Amino acid sequence: MANSLTQNLKAYDGVEDLSTFSSQEAVEKYRTERLEAMAGAVSFLEKRVERGALISVIDIGSGSSCLLYACKKKGILLHGVGIEISKSRHDFAEQWRCDEGYSSIENLNLNITDVPVSTMNGDMCTILDSTFTYFHSVDPSMPEQILQQIFQGLNCGGWLILEMSTFLDARRSCQDSQGYYKWVELPKSNKYSYALYKVDYSKNRNIICSESRYLYRSQSGESKKIEYSKVYSTSELKKMVCGVGFTNVVFYSDYQETSFDEKKSNRLVLACQKRK
Ligand SMILES: C[S@@+](CC[C@H](N)C(=O)[O-])C[C@H]1O[C@@H](n2cnc3c(N)ncnc32)[C@H](O)[C@@H]1O
Repeated sequence: MANSLTQNLKAYDGVEDLSTFSSQEAVEKYRTERLEAMAGAVSFLEKRVERGALISVIDIGSGSSCLLYACKKKGILLHGVGIEISKSRHDFAEQWRCDEGYSSIENLNLNITDVPVSTMNGDMCTILDSTFTYFHSVDPSMPEQILQQIFQGLNCGGWLILEMSTFLDARRSCQDSQGYYKWVELPKSNKYSYALYKVDYSKNRNIICSESRYLYRSQSGESKKIEYSKVYSTSELKKMVCGVGFTNVVFYSDYQETSFDEKKSNRLVLACQKRK
């Protein structure tokens, strides 16, 4: 766990590196896939917006900024800020933004801890795809600090949306052993042909260590990343968000708003509001 700080901050270095796409067509195909993957999240946000209103969204750990671009395409975005620490992902997001001429969206290549509160001003703040679970291993006080930063920046009535894995299956699989391995064959559009995941669960720390190896499709070799993720219960998250001042906290197991079940749900979606 000693190097979890640097591992978590650089886990996505090189991801979406534009030089690794074989053609512009491959880039376009990948962009379309990313937009499609955001459909559930976008309709979840849309349900929290008054009909016809346009919203400002801050997305933390924005990757390719696909969420913001999907919101823009859906016609619900007034202004968007994507905050992403990985340079290659930021560059991918910027190229996409320039190609589409999205002048109302800003991509910041920064660690969220270095973003001033004034930049966090908006109607909605999103931290999706388990990004929130990475912060604890960087610094145990980081999750609360970020929640405070978000609360201060958000407009009154503004929403915070967290979406993450509960690691339920991983925890069950690790219960009787030291961890488990899983091979996954990746789709043809992916530059990697296979992914090998090694997952360990430290029960006393409540941390999942996930080591991923990706085998290149068209050359020999592999790319490797390690992530340390904190497992959160709904009561823990509720205490944290209420502790900084959020209200109206609700949990679902997905963007379709299926009720959350601690014993069954592999993912959780939290929505809460800053009082009007
Ligand atoms: C699971 S990915 C989410 C990707 C994004 N939602 C998408 O669909 O492209 C988590 C992202 O958070 C970024 N990240 C992790 N820690 C960060 C930090 N402290 N500040 C900003 N970004 C961070 C990672 O580089 C990674 O791109």
